[in-house]
Amino acid sequence: MDRAMSGGLHVGLIMDGNGRWARARGLPRTEGHRRGADAVRRAVEAAPELGITTLTLYAFSADNWRRPAAEVSTLMRLLESFLARECANCRRHGVRLALIGRRDRLSPELIRAIQTAERTTRAGARLYLRLAVDYSARAAILVAAATLRSDERCDEDGFLRRINRACHSDPETPPVDLLIRTSGEQRLSDFLLFESAYAELLFLETLWPDFDGEDLRRAVEAFRRRERRYGGLTADQAIAPPSSRSSSTTSIGFPCNSSGVSP
Ligand code: FPP
Repeated sequence: MDRAMSGGLHVGLIMDGNGRWARARGLPRTEGHRRGADAVRRAVEAAPELGITTLTLYAFSADNWRRPAAEVSTLMRLLESFLARECANCRRHGVRLALIGRRDRLSPELIRAIQTAERTTRAGARLYLRLAVDYSARAAILVAAATLRSDERCDEDGFLRRINRACHSDPETPPVDLLIRTSGEQRLSDFLLFESAYAELLFLETLWPDFDGEDLRRAVEAFRRRERRYGGLTADQAIAPPSSRSSSTTSIGFPCNSSGVSP
């Protein structure tokens, strides 16, 4: 992976709330997904200016196959047309596209669209855009684990590379810094579990089709106010007497309903 690209933020996005957005307007769920695809374009456009160099979007989970066939086929068609339509745009704007997840259950047409998009945009160095399709974090971890010989040693970075390879990502894709889920739900739904070990989590009330560049900007701003300690102490906590430690902890304001408590 391009070194400049790996220096910025990796943001993961669980794009939730398309169905509720549509229901609130008396529209079919598929319309929510269509408007969700517009929100994808807005997020991708806004990302590079915000210091995001890797953006991973949860477009279709391995469990989403359980949805009605008509909804699944709408989602697959939307993905195909997004890839076909946005390919040239991505190339022009330095966006490198990749699809992470299983490919053996996708249609030949979608596979062709993915391969074309990946080939056409491979030189993109501003943003690495990963669309997670037929994706399961647990499955990727299992595939990566199966590549280890029983006597083989592997540290976290090495295992992350294996996971990246297992889901067809660039092996050097960094861990997630910020994980956002829209629509008020607060769960990870089998998305980037290993990669998000120290991600900051942000749960927004916004329904995905309403999400725009300003929401992403506010999310990144909230992230930058957070104190990432990776289990350690901040410099002032380390020197302060125990009685003053609690007051030296940064308090964090979020434009959402997250608790902001970090371990
Ligand atoms: C979850 O909302 C959303 C999905 C399962 C699909 C996400 C797809 C898109 C945003 C559009 C296509 C993507 C691209 C990259 C072009 P939900 O349907 O579960 O909403 P609900 O919880 O309100 O029912």
